[in-house]
Amino acid sequence: MKIGVYYYPEQWPREHWERDFDNMARMGMQIVHMGEFAWYSMEPQEGNIQLDWLSECVEMAVKRKMEVILCTPSAVPPVWLIEKDADACLKRADGSCHRHGGRRHGSPTSPALRDATARIVTALADRFGDHPSVIGWQIDNELSGPFGQNQHTHDSFQGWLQRKYGSIKNLNDAWGNQFWNTFYTSFSQIQLPATRDPDYGNPHQHLDASRFWSWAYADFAKMQAEILRPRIGKERWITTNFMPFHLDCDPNDFKESFDLTTWDSYPVTGWERHPHDETYRLAGPNSLGLVHDYMASYHDRWALMEVQPGQVNWSGIPVLLYPGAVRLWLWTAFAHGAEFITVYRFRQPLWGIEMFHHALVGTDGVTPSPGGRQFTQVIHEVAKLDLSRVPDLKDEKISASTVGLVFDFDQLWWYRTLPQAKRWSQPHFLEMWYGAIARLGLRVKVLRPDQDWPSDLKLIVAPGLQMVDDALIKKMDDYATAGGNLILTCRTALMDRTGQMFEGPTAQPIVDLIGANIEAYDGLPEGSFGHIEMDGKKYRWGVWGDLLFAHENTRVLAKYADQFYSGAIAVTQKRHGKGLVTYCGVHAEHEFIDALIEHKTAEVGIKTELMPERVHVIARGPYRILLNYRDQPVTAPAAKKAKFIVGHRTVEPAGVAVWEE
Ligand code: GAL
Repeated sequence: MKIGVYYYPEQWPREHWERDFDNMARMGMQIVHMGEFAWYSMEPQEGNIQLDWLSECVEMAVKRKMEVILCTPSAVPPVWLIEKDADACLKRADGSCHRHGGRRHGSPTSPALRDATARIVTALADRFGDHPSVIGWQIDNELSGPFGQNQHTHDSFQGWLQRKYGSIKNLNDAWGNQFWNTFYTSFSQIQLPATRDPDYGNPHQHLDASRFWSWAYADFAKMQAEILRPRIGKERWITTNFMPFHLDCDPNDFKESFDLTTWDSYPVTGWERHPHDETYRLAGPNSLGLVHDYMASYHDRWALMEVQPGQVNWSGIPVLLYPGAVRLWLWTAFAHGAEFITVYRFRQPLWGIEMFHHALVGTDGVTPSPGGRQFTQVIHEVAKLDLSRVPDLKDEKISASTVGLVFDFDQLWWYRTLPQAKRWSQPHFLEMWYGAIARLGLRVKVLRPDQDWPSDLKLIVAPGLQMVDDALIKKMDDYATAGGNLILTCRTALMDRTGQMFEGPTAQPIVDLIGANIEAYDGLPEGSFGHIEMDGKKYRWGVWGDLLFAHENTRVLAKYADQFYSGAIAVTQKRHGKGLVTYCGVHAEHEFIDALIEHKTAEVGIKTELMPERVHVIARGPYRILLNYRDQPVTAPAAKKAKFIVGHRTVEPAGVAVWEE
C-alpha cells in the first residue's frame, strides 16, 4: 500500500515547487496527485493548451521517486467556457443558474461542457498517457449536484426513459400514472423532477430521476474514460473519488468505465457527538469499515483518494482530532485492503473557502502538522511489513470467518424518496449489521445483487432490500437451498424495481422463503420504544416492527413483549432446502442485532472472538491488525509467542497494533 498526497502547484508560486516536492519526499510521500481543479491553468483561453508547467511538476515528482496520479479538471470549467455558453452551468430548480466562481457548476449533460472536456482530456492523455510514472487517472472530483433543470438535461432524461421503457404505455404503467390520472402521451412532455422529494408528485418518476442523474454523471465519466483508455493502456487505472452513500452517484453505474473504486473519507465532523467520552474525535470502525468494504465490492480493488488530515473547514464544529486518529484511519484502510491512500492536501491554503482546512504542513508551508507527522509514521510502520506476503484483495480466499452483507445502492433512492418511516436510515441499518458481525472478530464481504454470492459463505445478511426482481429472489432461494444461512429483515421484497407493490400478500415473493406472513407493521414515534424478547432477554426497538404469522414448521425466535399485540411474533426461522432462512421482522437497537448475529454464528458453527466495543481485529496475510477506536487502552488478543511489528500487546487509546503469530 503506497501513501501519497494532493499537491496543487498552480495554487503556489513557482519558486516554492522544488522546496515543496523536497518536503513531500522528506515526509516519505510515494505518490503525488495533481491537476484536479487546474483547467484554467491548462487552457487559459479556448484551445490554448498549456501543459508544460504540469510536465515540469511530473518530472519533479519523478526526480524524487514519487509516482503520479493525474486528474481530469472537469469539476471547474473555466470562465471562457461559461462566457461562451452560459447553458453549460447547471440550472437549479428555482430557475437560477450555478455561476462561475466556485466548483461543480457544470452540467454533465451540457454539450458545450462535454465538448470542451473531451478536448482538454484528450490533450492531457496525449501528453501524459504513456508516462511511466503516471499510475492512474482520477476523473473529475466528487461528481455531484442538484437535479439539473437545463433543457439539455430534460432532453437527456427523455432519451434515457425512451431507451428504458420503449413506449409511453410502458412508462405510464411503470410509474402508476393511472393514480390521479397523470398520463403522459409523449416522452417530450416529461421533465426531470427538481428534487428527490416527490411532495405530492409521482414517487416512481422521482426514483427514475435518481437513477437517471447517476447515469448522467456516469456517462460524463465514461466519455472521459473512453478518451483516456486507448492513450493510457490497460496497466494504468481510471477512477473517480466517490462520497460514501451520496445519492448522486451509484458506483455500480461507473463500474464498467473504471478499474478500481476510490472514496473520500472525512470521519470527524463533530456532527455525531458521543456525550460520555471522547470517541467523537475518532469516528467509529463500523461506519469506516462498511464503506471501505462496499467500495471494495465493485472491482475487488479500492483506494482512499482523500482522507482527513486534521480539522476541516466545512463542518461548522472545528473538533480537534484525538491524537493518533489519522494514523488509526490509515491503518484501518490498510486492514481493509486499500491499494493506496492519498491525502487532501499537502499545504494548508492561505486563502479561499478552505483556508481553515488543515493539511500535511501548516500555514508556513513547511512544518509538518500533527496529521502530517502521523502520515510519516505510518509510512515507516508499513515499511516494516513484508507486503509480498499480503495478498491483493482479489486473490484473498473467503475464509471461514467471513460473513456476507448485501448492499444495493438502488434501494437508497427509494428510502429517500418514499421513506414511510422517518426513523429508518438504510446506511445506519447496514452499519448495525456490519458492527454486529465485526465485533465478533469476523470479516464482512459486501455483496451486491448483481454479483455471484459465494456459496462457501456460511452466512449472508441482506438487510432491507425493499425492491426485488426475479433474479434477486432466485439468488436468495438458491443460496439457502444449497445450504446457506440467509438472514432477511423487515422491509424486504415489498415492491418490484419500479417501486410498485405486488398484488398479493405483503412481501409476496418471500412468503414461502421465510415461512411466515406479515400481518401488520408498526413504527413508533421519535423517542418511543417497544420491547421484544429473545432467549428470555428483552431488547428495545422503535423504528419498524413486523407482526408475523408463522407457518407450520417455522420456528419462532423472538416475540414482542409489550404494546397491545404483546406476544406477536417478531423473528422467525425456517429450513429451506439444505439451509436456513431467518426473518428478522424488527428494526431493533444494536444490542438485539448483536445478540441475533451471536446466536446465528454459534448455530452455524462460525468460530468467533468477541472484541471490546469499538475495537476491530482484522487479518491481512500473516498479520493481525488491531484498531482501537476507544479512548481507553485495550489488550491485544495475541498468542503468547506473538511477534509485535507495530505497537505492543497493550494498545493505547486510538492506537494500532500489528502482530504475527
Ligand atoms: C472533499 C473535496 C476536496 C476538498 C475536501 C475538503 O470533499 O473532494 O476537494 O474540498 O472535501 O474537506
